[in-house]
Amino acid sequence: MIILGIESSCDETAAAVVADGTRIQASVVASQVAVHSPYGGVVPELASRRHIEAIVPVVDQALARAELTATQIDAIAVTRGPGLVGALLVGFSFARAYAYSLGKPWVGVNHLTGHIHSLFLSSDPPAFPFIALLASGGHTSIYYVTSPLSIELMGRTRDDAAGEAFDKVSKLLGLGYPGGGVISRISQEGRPGRIVFPRAYLDKQAFDFSFSGLKSAVRRYVETHPQTWKSETADIAAGFQQAVVDVLTAKLLSAARSRKCRRIAVVGGVAANQCLRQTLRDKADQEEISVFMPPVDLCGDNAAMIAAAGYHLLRAGKTGELADDVYSTKDLNT
Ligand code: KG4
Ligand code: ZN
Repeated sequence: MIILGIESSCDETAAAVVADGTRIQASVVASQVAVHSPYGGVVPELASRRHIEAIVPVVDQALARAELTATQIDAIAVTRGPGLVGALLVGFSFARAYAYSLGKPWVGVNHLTGHIHSLFLSSDPPAFPFIALLASGGHTSIYYVTSPLSIELMGRTRDDAAGEAFDKVSKLLGLGYPGGGVISRISQEGRPGRIVFPRAYLDKQAFDFSFSGLKSAVRRYVETHPQTWKSETADIAAGFQQAVVDVLTAKLLSAARSRKCRRIAVVGGVAANQCLRQTLRDKADQEEISVFMPPVDLCGDNAAMIAAAGYHLLRAGKTGELADDVYSTKDLNT
């Protein structure tokens, strides 16, 4: 089954062609980073406008790269939520209209389910069951995944998402937006142990997160070291990154132990973080747990993961209805 995937939930306009939920034939991502970075974050109105400009060329490019015409695809899968409503509506309305005009089935996909399915696009996908950490700009949650569409929420952040913490700390340190990539680069020149920021483990038996205290601790450090903090940027970044990585790693491994599960995975934009990837590999190795991660270019938002999730929904007989609408907040299993 050849599926055209479409994603427009935040600041990436993306289209992809994926065969049987696993083989990427084309994946195009038009990033809006340049549009939003002067504002230090995503401006919803600008995102919607940019999606409208980009959606047709991005879909055309994906089909061209896959060397297919629209009539040769079997179905369309599109992100339905969660995300920015105005941004979602562009991809969703386009996909629905395109599917009806082609006479093809279509299905709405939960963006978070999509991130989990990015794992099945790698050359080394996990077997079931596995414990997945989703760490992105909007979400930080742990799931117990027993089949492609059986995804149980075990814990989630009570305040900021991990990626959001990277973005806010980056802004605080004057390093720009988005923050994940730049913080991780600068951290390589810093000493992670010199400035120790707090790790919020909350209830050790539970799998919820909190990152707002960590962000406030970085702000306090900057405010109480007005003369020196700029020259310490790399150490601050490294100390902050280490605190995030330690908590994410500890909670994910602890969730795996609680279910006696020997497979863990990490997905979402923050899964591109090299310190997190390496730390997880090292720690999991010590406990003989296998770690699965998508390739770095599939960690951030893309449409291939939406097509991969859509494949399983369509096979399960789910299809979109003309009256369906997007949603801004909703967890998995929609
Ligand atoms: O999954 P994603 O592209 O979009 C959402 O669904 O939110 O994740 C974007 C987030 C941003 O907050 C960004 O700063 C973070 O992922 N990110 C990273 C890295 N690359 C992107 N965080 C840490 N280290 C990275 N290398
Ligand atoms: Zn995402």
